[in-house]
Amino acid sequence: MMMLLFLPLQSAIVTFMGIVVLTMKAAVIELFLAAPQINCDVKAGKIIDPEFIVKCPAGCQDSKYHVYGTDVYASYSSVCGAAVHSGVISNSGGKILVRKVAGQSGYKGSYSNGVQSLSLPRWRESFIVSESKPKKGISYPSALTYSSSRSPATKAGKCETTKVYQKPSVPGTTAQPATPMQALPTTTPKATHTALPKPSLSATSATNSPRPQPVGHRNQEMDCKVDLSFLIDGGSGIGKRRFRIQKQFLEEVAQALDIGPAGPLMGVVQYGDNPATQFNLKTHMNSQDLKTAIKKITQRGGLSNVGRAISFVTKNFFSKANGNRGGAPNVAVVMVDGWPTDKVEEASRLARESGINIFFITIEGAVENEKQYVMEPNFANKAVCRTNGFYSLNVQSWFGLHKTVQPLVKRVCDTDRLACSKTCLNSADIGFVIDGSSSVGTGNFRTVLQFVANLSKEFEISDTDTRIGAVQYTYEQRLEFGFDKYSTKPDILNAIKRVGYWSGGTSTGAAINYALEQLFQKSKPNKRKLMILITDGRSYDDVRIPAMAAHQKGVITYAIGIVWAAQDELEVIATHPARDHSFFVDEFDNLYKTVPRIIQNICTEFNSQPRN
Ligand SMILES: *[C@@H]1O[C@H](CO)[C@@H](O)[C@H](O)[C@H]1NC(C)=O
Repeated sequence: MMMLLFLPLQSAIVTFMGIVVLTMKAAVIELFLAAPQINCDVKAGKIIDPEFIVKCPAGCQDSKYHVYGTDVYASYSSVCGAAVHSGVISNSGGKILVRKVAGQSGYKGSYSNGVQSLSLPRWRESFIVSESKPKKGISYPSALTYSSSRSPATKAGKCETTKVYQKPSVPGTTAQPATPMQALPTTTPKATHTALPKPSLSATSATNSPRPQPVGHRNQEMDCKVDLSFLIDGGSGIGKRRFRIQKQFLEEVAQALDIGPAGPLMGVVQYGDNPATQFNLKTHMNSQDLKTAIKKITQRGGLSNVGRAISFVTKNFFSKANGNRGGAPNVAVVMVDGWPTDKVEEASRLARESGINIFFITIEGAVENEKQYVMEPNFANKAVCRTNGFYSLNVQSWFGLHKTVQPLVKRVCDTDRLACSKTCLNSADIGFVIDGSSSVGTGNFRTVLQFVANLSKEFEISDTDTRIGAVQYTYEQRLEFGFDKYSTKPDILNAIKRVGYWSGGTSTGAAINYALEQLFQKSKPNKRKLMILITDGRSYDDVRIPAMAAHQKGVITYAIGIVWAAQDELEVIATHPARDHSFFVDEFDNLYKTVPRIIQNICTEFNSQPRN
């Protein structure tokens, strides 16, 4: 049966792409009107239809399908994950009705129905999920239309995008009045907004029948709505000639982006010793004006203080007065000739945490024997969101810079991927304080380490995301590893496994003081400091004063007690309210049960606090 269905579909696609108008008998189409099915990982932003019914599979409760928001979800969320979070379906899947609504200036995470949703500063589009009760007068798409900003401009990408998701119901798509002619890739990157129907994702279009969206055409110009800040290098080191090339590059980018109020907006900041805004987002609202203005920029001279410029942009650039639209992702593209003259990693982290997606283009960066002159030799990877290479571009020579125009434009416009913000899982320094006293015993100590590893696994770990440290104590204390010792999850998990059981007394108070000094004093500003203390008995020394010191220093303290641990002591150690920060289990083998609750509480607390 499937084979029989599939063959005509393939030919349908082929004819479709051959721009032959395809008519199918309505009766045949009816057969396929069952709700389209999607996978758990499909994000709402990938689907262009303003309102649709889909069928979710089982198993979407998994934390790997990220969900952002509560009730109203950022379209960066998994559709089916959000459906489980909102309680419309359970983990066994089912049909749901999804409606797109306007972007919000903030999304609050929460824990609900077994799904921890995350916070997000702002997003350009949202959606809500409800039971699949079709409303009268609305026709729901029998096949979904996917945005394909990620597929290459031409060629085979078309078939790939359709195949995966639309197989069951392609006839529905072809039956719509598709207008593929308009959508053919243009030969120049200058396709104007007016030439193509811009897919309006606002709630107002919800009652329209889904817009025919040609599959797989290059639509980066169409949904590239970003607020962009270009930081250009105006230091003396760059020289007149390369400064000119840099300006040329900017002009080409401005041209390729097709600047406009409905699409991308772009401002420029030039940095030397100090940064200055050349123009903000609303100074020039079309490519032509912008190019003319770029031509007139004169070089500032001085050092190349990139970090200072990034801090400046974080504080000043993306304000409403400067034309920031709020509904569009904020993007900063930092051009660096060689390397910066100041530190950039920390400034970049703070920029990212305030919701700015930061890209680095390094041109003629330090070669191996020059790295000794660079303060942060690996800044181009560390200053950006994670290290998958998406946010940093390395260019060998200024003369090859123009080749970067298209790759950059493509990435900057890949708005589905622009989500780089602070969450409960990527923004903490977590210090474990582990009781290694004699009463624990070797076997149980392994269980405790397993527990520490299981908690650690839940976080996103790197030196710019969550970091983990550990102290073991008896009468004495020792630093097992500090926050900056390991920067990957496998390394952390290995290090935890290698912690050797010490055996001795139980001086919990002294251990807290030790952790404050040896771990948390080295925590970075703006990181959440979490202490997770695990003990199986009453302390020999006073815990009250050390615990107060921890609370006063802003270290959020969780106390986990096992078997002989004293509940009253756990409550003293724990941050207020104690019921959210202290946990007790009557045997080591039950420790695993607290893992999801602890993670949940950490995230709930994070989400209930103002960020930054
Ligand atoms: C840790 O996770 C493993 C695998 O999920 C589980 O089998 C084990 O019971 C957990 N242990 C603890 C102490 O959390």
